Amino acid sequence: MKALRNVGRLLSPGSPLRQNVDVLVDGDLVAGVVPAGQGGPVEEDFDCAGCLLTPGLIDAHTHPLYARPRLAEAAQRAAGASYSALAAAGGGINATVRDTRAASFSDLELGARGRLQRWLGQGTTTVEAKTGYWLARDGELAAVALLSRLANDRSLPRLAVTYLAAHEVPPEHLTARADYVQKVVDWCPDARRAGASFCDVFCDEGAFTVAESERILAAAAAAGLRLRLHADELGLTGGARLAARLSAVSADHLLRIGPAEVDALAGAGTVATLCPVTALNMGQLPPARALLDAGVTVALGSDHNPGTSGTTSMSLVLYLAITELGLSVEEALAAATVGAARSLAVTDRGRVEPGMLADLVLWQADHEGAFAWEPGLRARRVWRGGAELAPEG
Ligand code: NIG
Ligand code: FE
Repeated sequence: MKALRNVGRLLSPGSPLRQNVDVLVDGDLVAGVVPAGQGGPVEEDFDCAGCLLTPGLIDAHTHPLYARPRLAEAAQRAAGASYSALAAAGGGINATVRDTRAASFSDLELGARGRLQRWLGQGTTTVEAKTGYWLARDGELAAVALLSRLANDRSLPRLAVTYLAAHEVPPEHLTARADYVQKVVDWCPDARRAGASFCDVFCDEGAFTVAESERILAAAAAAGLRLRLHADELGLTGGARLAARLSAVSADHLLRIGPAEVDALAGAGTVATLCPVTALNMGQLPPARALLDAGVTVALGSDHNPGTSGTTSMSLVLYLAITELGLSVEEALAAATVGAARSLAVTDRGRVEPGMLADLVLWQADHEGAFAWEPGLRARRVWRGGAELAPEG
């Protein structure tokens, strides 16, 4: 048993704020929360010095496995070029596919490990991780297998692996889209066997249509994969309504949705995963308040990817959810913990309560208002399953 002594404020979504407490940890689980100094003897003590403790943050949307970021394109977008225009001109996802196919898996693993270590050091203990930069059978399945292997590495965040072969139509199939859709369908059982838990489709203008997405997602569900969907990010094409109709666990981005889509998500119990860095990058914000008011569970994601979001900092994402999307500090923290856990269909994390995983973050602050004050608030200490990791500094 170990004790995290002298926690100034313990903020755990769903429970009232607790002040001046000790958090007891037994193995990889939280054993209890007691008034400071009232726990019995333990083998190991850590002094939290009155700081703020929260559950480990959960990033519900990322693309962490790629060769290199498209920085020249980011500069072009900053100068006014649109994401769709750059993609049509040979940039975008297919540019990363060219680079990633040409890279060795050992280099790709090194790059992904470095990013994932940053996530963890910045207070994120679970990361949803998508494939999607091979768009060919062997590469996509090898990516699922690599991410599944990294999921067992205790020096990295926990991972939830998503098969996203339907990220884009690859160049060799541009004149035979239906063939590629059929392939993505056929690979679903293999992706499940290789370790994927989820299937995602980029359902949007210039990507996959609603009909194509539905074919893929139906096959994914039959293969035992749970469904997520990039929906209505670039245009209102019907992705959110499809996600609701198929009872997807998550519909993501949602920059273009209106009241009908909000109601559909609320009725289906589909989580709305919002990615404020990408939203700002695209110049269009999702209707976060309307979603919350309608009773939709909101999750947050960094959407880390080589094109539109380079961050691995969920505390920065929290800051933007608060300042740009209008969430309260408590709503944002809930979205980045229990909300994100719900989008990943897990109930063992996201709160600091007895029996939950001891994934914990001690922040460089003594009040949760710091999330609304310092973009990218730093973690002071991070525990994954009760094991302490070196902070990022
Ligand atoms: O979530 N929209 C599709 N996927 C990413 C972008 C990926 C990329 O541009 O490489 C997103 O924004
Ligand atoms: Fe994405």
